[in-house]
Amino acid sequence: MRITFCQGVLALAIVINLLILYYVSRLQQRMLHRHRDHVQPSSRLLPVPQRPGVTIIIREFEDFENYVPDVVQSFLKQKPEQPVMVAADTLPYPPLVLLDAPNVQLVILKPAPDQPAHVCRPEMYVKTEYVALVPDGVKVDSTRQLDRMLEEFKANQGRVQMVAAPVQSLAPLQCLNLKVSLRKWTAEYSIAPSTRLCTALKGDAVILLRTKDLFNLSTPLAKPLLTSLFIQTSLRDWTVRILDVSFSSAHQPLLSSSHNQWKAENRAKASRLQLFRDFGIKRVLLEDGKQQWFGCSKDTPRCFGTVHDDTPEYLYQNRWTPPCCLQALRETAKYVINILETSGVRYWLEGGTLLGAARHQDIIPWDYDVDLGIYLEDIPNCDLLRNVESGSIVDEKGFVWEKAIEGDFYRVQYSEHNHLHVDLWPFYPKNGLMTKDTWMDHRQDMEFPEHFLKPLLPLPFAGFTALAPNNYRSFLELKFGAGVIENPEYPNPARKKLDKGK
Ligand SMILES: *[C@@H]1O[C@H](CO)[C@@H](O)[C@H](O)[C@H]1NC(C)=O
Repeated sequence: MRITFCQGVLALAIVINLLILYYVSRLQQRMLHRHRDHVQPSSRLLPVPQRPGVTIIIREFEDFENYVPDVVQSFLKQKPEQPVMVAADTLPYPPLVLLDAPNVQLVILKPAPDQPAHVCRPEMYVKTEYVALVPDGVKVDSTRQLDRMLEEFKANQGRVQMVAAPVQSLAPLQCLNLKVSLRKWTAEYSIAPSTRLCTALKGDAVILLRTKDLFNLSTPLAKPLLTSLFIQTSLRDWTVRILDVSFSSAHQPLLSSSHNQWKAENRAKASRLQLFRDFGIKRVLLEDGKQQWFGCSKDTPRCFGTVHDDTPEYLYQNRWTPPCCLQALRETAKYVINILETSGVRYWLEGGTLLGAARHQDIIPWDYDVDLGIYLEDIPNCDLLRNVESGSIVDEKGFVWEKAIEGDFYRVQYSEHNHLHVDLWPFYPKNGLMTKDTWMDHRQDMEFPEHFLKPLLPLPFAGFTALAPNNYRSFLELKFGAGVIENPEYPNPARKKLDKGK
């Protein structure tokens, strides 16, 4: 058979087409792989500021009354080419009248749908190796101030990541120690042992640091600026050194009227609340010993959603039970136990709750409810438990009692809004064993010899004394396995394992 020239060309074309197709698909796959390798973000994306010197950043000021143009002027008077960046969440109103110079930038941090990405990214505007965070109202008296800060920074290189020059004001700058535990949702401030080396500051200061350090923080310019800055830096073990250099303030107090002060204080409070929410900090211990809570309460839903596979959402975030939830659980447990005791219902700490009491006399730090066993035959002794058969009851203290829909047990919720709860599991004795009629799909939900309950023994728990099975070690090892007290583990290690290194 003869192949015509045309047929030959056609065959060749088909073969070439196939080859191209194959090559393109290979290329696509390779690119896909490469793309996957690059999903891990790289800090090489950060712009590297090369120019020597310092950029002034003014971030915190009020729209309705501020001295930002004066602050800018005062720096430019010393050095006309001084780079200055004023950063605001939205376009200030009334408008900020800034000097029209190429080294003075107003940056709006709020994304704009018609603008390219870099426009709202402050790091794109800073070309110098260092930045100085400057509060509103600061007045510069000589070029030496900034230069000396820089000299001091270099002299302390490697030992501190920031240096601070106090701004003379009514309250002196305080050197604080800040310990943040994200796992415990907690920030603890205390007076630093040193007057110079601090991990947080309270008061007004000009803070100088490396540009690449500031913009490598997750949120470099969040407000309140110093609160946000020091939470992030203390988690990186950075320190700030207070210098002898200081700045004066042109206006003391900064805001002229008490109305404006009140307005500013309210805004500061709101931004602090938002910051702690964003950072997941629910309990703050202040340097004066006062405590502030930013978590759930009786009037809010609990801080975590429905628990799947015994693994609450916070464990996946490498966090433990929020401290407000632990407090609410302790309070509910104490309340319920008091009612059981006074109404003559025999109860005992059960399951994970008993385990926590055995380990450290408290709720396990990652647990999300409290379990108590009760004698079924004692239920009629307690009005609330008896009456709840016909529907849930909100008692005089706002706790909600209900018969659980999931099975034959009772549940007492912290409040109507907040569903943190204590579960009551009724058991009855049968041939020397404690048993019940419905079982949950948990290893520890099993029959056990009644002798563990004869007698019940007091055990310190959550700040009070509760009753527990005698010989609780054997009781727990029977239910959970040998060594369970000494070897903590998350409730469902197949889903999330406890990182024992930390
Ligand atoms: C950014 O911070 C991370 C740790 O938080 C560090 O490993 C990395 O080296 C830093 N990058 C730069 C450019 O400093």
